[in-house]
Amino acid sequence: MKATQNITSVQQSRAMPEAVIAIKDLRKSFGDNHVLNGFNMKLYKGENLVIMGKSGSGKSVMIKCLVGLMQADSGSIMVMGKEVAKLNRKLLDELRAEIGFLFQGSALYDSMTVRENLEFPLRRHQKKMGNNLDTNSLVMEALENVGLAHTVDIMPEELSGGMKRRVALARTLIIQPKIILYDEPTSGLDPITSKEIIELMLRIQKKYQTSSLIITHDVDCARVIADRMILLIDGINYIEGTFNELIQINDPKVKAFFK
Ligand SMILES: Nc1ncnc2c1ncn2[C@@H]1O[C@H](COP(=O)(O)OP(=O)(O)OP(=O)(O)O)[C@@H](O)[C@H]1O
Ligand SMILES: [Mg+2]
Repeated sequence: MKATQNITSVQQSRAMPEAVIAIKDLRKSFGDNHVLNGFNMKLYKGENLVIMGKSGSGKSVMIKCLVGLMQADSGSIMVMGKEVAKLNRKLLDELRAEIGFLFQGSALYDSMTVRENLEFPLRRHQKKMGNNLDTNSLVMEALENVGLAHTVDIMPEELSGGMKRRVALARTLIIQPKIILYDEPTSGLDPITSKEIIELMLRIQKKYQTSSLIITHDVDCARVIADRMILLIDGINYIEGTFNELIQINDPKVKAFFK
């Protein structure tokens, strides 16, 4: 009962650029809770790939395996040609310097100013960024990208929810990642602010040619941003395709997402 085959073959017939992430047959269980049962995914260079799945379907587990925070039971995860599970700490850190992660919420450090929040990843990834950094220019450029240069010296508590999300995005961008992982980038925001964040994500992708993996429940977000989508259902990549392809699929499990 998998409509996957049809859609997958549609995808394969299109000329696709190189995969910056390739996940093959990923499996992860917690006791009897079989969360990922053979999940496959490719993120192609420069694309916006949206992953949708119900709460508890394993999206965060998949992301944690992807960045090496959690060990899968089996399967393979290649990021920019490297098998994540085989990397030692040093190599994993180097790889993480190429991956920006926008956490759910904004996860700014409340006790630090906006500037200090943005300086933090620069220090953490000093090796990539170099020693003679013009920190101030980088901080200001990142904030200008999200239209918030004027907030540089204030505390996060003085920002609205949407502004915090934009600062968090600036903090993700400052290390110039090649891949950005967004976990629910619009959750908890009103529709207008959500739209602003989505436009910002699109602008950033265009400017820096990043490849993005976007986890979202937000159908409007998916419609606007997705070059391609994967629905994670029953622990597998149940179906893949463009937004317009998926909304036409006559399968109750798929339809449930687009109500
Ligand atoms: N460290 C863990 N130990 C045991 N079970 C876990 C652990 N992490 C996740 N799980 C289980 O794995 C399943 C998937 O969780 P996950 O957080 O990936 O869901 P999700 O798809 O991200 O959901 P949401 O949309 O609510 O964020 C859940 O049943 C959860 O209880
Ligand atoms: Mg989650």
